[in-house]
Amino acid sequence: MEFYLVKGGCPLTGEVEIAGAKNAALAILAASIMTNETVTVENVPDVSDIRAILRVIEMIGGYVEKIDRHTYRINGSGIRSDVEVNNDLVRRIRGSYYLIGSLLGKYKSAAVAMPGGCNIGPRPIDQHIKGFRALGAAVRVAPPGLVAKASHLRGAHIYQDVVSVGSTINIMMAAVLAEGTTIIENAAKEPHVVDVANFMNSMGARIKGAGTDVIRIRGVERLHGTTYSIIPDQIEAGTFMFAAAATRGDVVVKNVIPKHLESLSAKLIEIGCQVIESDDKVRVSATGRLGKTNIKTLPYPGFPTDMQPQITVVLGLSGGTSIVTENVFESRFKYVDELAKMGASITVEGNSAIIDGVESYVGAHISSPDLRAGAALVIAALAAHGSSEIYDIHYIERGYEDFPEKLRALGADIVKVDTDKDEFGQKLVRVV
Ligand code: EPZ
Repeated sequence: MEFYLVKGGCPLTGEVEIAGAKNAALAILAASIMTNETVTVENVPDVSDIRAILRVIEMIGGYVEKIDRHTYRINGSGIRSDVEVNNDLVRRIRGSYYLIGSLLGKYKSAAVAMPGGCNIGPRPIDQHIKGFRALGAAVRVAPPGLVAKASHLRGAHIYQDVVSVGSTINIMMAAVLAEGTTIIENAAKEPHVVDVANFMNSMGARIKGAGTDVIRIRGVERLHGTTYSIIPDQIEAGTFMFAAAATRGDVVVKNVIPKHLESLSAKLIEIGCQVIESDDKVRVSATGRLGKTNIKTLPYPGFPTDMQPQITVVLGLSGGTSIVTENVFESRFKYVDELAKMGASITVEGNSAIIDGVESYVGAHISSPDLRAGAALVIAALAAHGSSEIYDIHYIERGYEDFPEKLRALGADIVKVDTDKDEFGQKLVRVV
């Protein structure tokens, strides 16, 4: 069994380089098979969710060549039009649902197992289905999961009932190869929606308005090969910014787009951190006890739900009472019980966490309930007095490349440990 062993109490200092955005990469890799020409994708993060989608592309007949750790050449010409996407990896990750949009757009037919992903509450896909149907597809829930078919796709005017990153991107993918114009109203505006649109435009798509709440897509007959570099991961960047704040450190977070981090920087400044932005860097430093604030998670440009656990950990150490309200997912406070083991004083009422800041956390044995909560618990352990063991780190590895290594380079005392039993049942411990 693998876990992180963390000895807390060291302020993080130094520089850290941010990887490509996982949630953009999942969609871009799925879209890369929409042409029969070769696509080269750069700045792909080396995390387990990405390795999973690359493997799925190979398993359905796509060609995947690893050029270096972060660059892949992909060719989708070997994928059959009647392919069934049905294996354990598809069911494990969320981003596999982008194969519905990409295959439906390319072949007018998709049969894909239902996606998995972090358990953070109900994650319906009704808006994806509504969009595919509006484009003229017959969609049904049938083995292997979701089956969508159309004789041809026609552009449509689609009003989304909720702001959804997944359905905005999925509908955009299918609409790119539909006849005529599609308009998506109430579209998600996240940076990765824009990145996917830019990627598809570089393949010959005609998408306008990504990054606003109305996206217009003029269908084209075919897409062509391209070379494209993925944007930096705003959530990985934010996680290091909040780790600097929690440990009263001084960290330069490099290879970022500061504009994408504005809602985070604003909150850090509000609670007393110093934040200095330059071209592609953000420096966060903190001294002394931080202040309280209230947070409401919202779609971009609001405060991201994917940073909610990390700011809660910081506010758990701030002076006074803060309230964090989760408006996007229903069950995203599961980590609060783990944080309580470290001495946090947090009460969850409905979709709000009421946080009475404590002076410090103490080390404990804790488990990651999901990806971002796991990263937040690591931040808590880094700020705590004493040692912590953090289990279920496979969640963290879904979305953070070299997390312990990057933290160690900032002065943290964190190692990944693997315990096993030998043939006599004795516990073996080794640092990985
Ligand atoms: C994406 O999930 C991300 N995942 C999530 O990141 C992120 O938390 C989320 O967007 C919000 O930013 C990937 O990109 C793979 P949504 P997604 O569709 O697409 C409701 C992480 O830690 N909704 O924007 O599943 C839904 O229930 C992960 O990296 C519907 O009602 O999120 C939620 O309340 C976790 N019907 C809201 O919309 C639908 O058809 C936003 O969901 C679709 C969504």
